[in-house]
Amino acid sequence: MTSLSPNLKARLAKPLKIGHFEVKSRVLQSPLSGVTDLVFRRLVRRHAPDSMMYTEMVNATGLHYVKQLPKIMEVDPNERPISIQLFDCRPDFLAEAAQMAVAEGADTVDINMGCPVNKITKNGGGSSLLRDPETAEAIVRAVVKAVKIPVTVKTRIGWTDQEINILDFAKRMEAAGAQMITVHGRTRAQGYNGPAKWEWIGRVKEILSIPVIANGDMFSVDAAVRCLEQTGADGVMCSRGTLGYPFLVGEIDHFLKTGTEKVKPTPIERLECAREHLQMLWEYKGDRGVRQARKHMTWYAKGFAGAADLRGQLSVIENVAQGLVIIDRGIDRLAHSGWQEIEESESQLVEA
Ligand SMILES: Cc1cc2nc3c(=O)[nH]c(=O)nc-3n(C[C@H](O)[C@H](O)[C@H](O)COP(=O)(O)O)c2cc1C
Repeated sequence: MTSLSPNLKARLAKPLKIGHFEVKSRVLQSPLSGVTDLVFRRLVRRHAPDSMMYTEMVNATGLHYVKQLPKIMEVDPNERPISIQLFDCRPDFLAEAAQMAVAEGADTVDINMGCPVNKITKNGGGSSLLRDPETAEAIVRAVVKAVKIPVTVKTRIGWTDQEINILDFAKRMEAAGAQMITVHGRTRAQGYNGPAKWEWIGRVKEILSIPVIANGDMFSVDAAVRCLEQTGADGVMCSRGTLGYPFLVGEIDHFLKTGTEKVKPTPIERLECAREHLQMLWEYKGDRGVRQARKHMTWYAKGFAGAADLRGQLSVIENVAQGLVIIDRGIDRLAHSGWQEIEESESQLVEA
């Protein structure tokens, strides 16, 4: 059973200060491309009303040429605090995009300097900026100059194990005007594999004055507490742990505020959430939303007998009505047979 030390509780009791902006939670929902749209954030927010959330990353070059707000940048006026995340390598385009983010209602603007995907790095964006700190600095300076809201950076610890440069890089971001930095404790070469190296996050925290947020392997309340203890970070950011589980940020936030663990949702409650998620995605995006919902649905259906079969069916749904029928059947089966919790390996989950 996880326990909250008085020291940690006291340290985290104050609001998180991002420049002049205050957030009443030390747990953040990360930007997740293809996932953290307005619908998903609404589900997370229900359990974590105080937490900072992020849009999916938005391409600043795309915004420059199209000049039209893409759906992934849409923010609900009632959802606060909210950060819009941008990626690119051109300081002028990013500055312009940041102004559009302000107009859309962002509380902060975050620059993605951690994405490992080739399509992004070969154009000089995402984690490739770790290898080009001068451009990264120029980006932060240009965006800070363009907007009055705080500018933050999300990055990794380096390009490869041989090129871990996060200490110098983070210092440079702070000097350029970043008001907070989130460090994913993996190198670009690691992708999402191997454990996150939280020790580097602790070292970054030691040398910066701005808040440092720890990211990587934040899959449970226990992980978040261990990470906060080990690193001294100002907060934690949850990512893959929220896929099919929009309860996680709220669970950690509740624990850090009260020292007690929330009762976890049952498989039936998780499927009810999946049902609502599917319905909302369809209402928000139509048939495209249903196609996007397939992966979400398979993430919800796990950890109980019969889950693999349910995932198989949900991964190929063609329309909302079909998806709802399959989920309702799953709920019915669980309600009548009682549910038996089972451990499933990651590979079983990915196969579905
Ligand atoms: C499906 C997916 C999409 C992601 N999209 C983004 C993104 O748009 N912007 C970003 O900064 N990081 C993105 N990330 C990285 C995560 O925010 C996070 O840094 C990473 O998953 C490490 O945390 P974890 O080990 O707890 O998952 C993405 C990760 C995944 C798995």
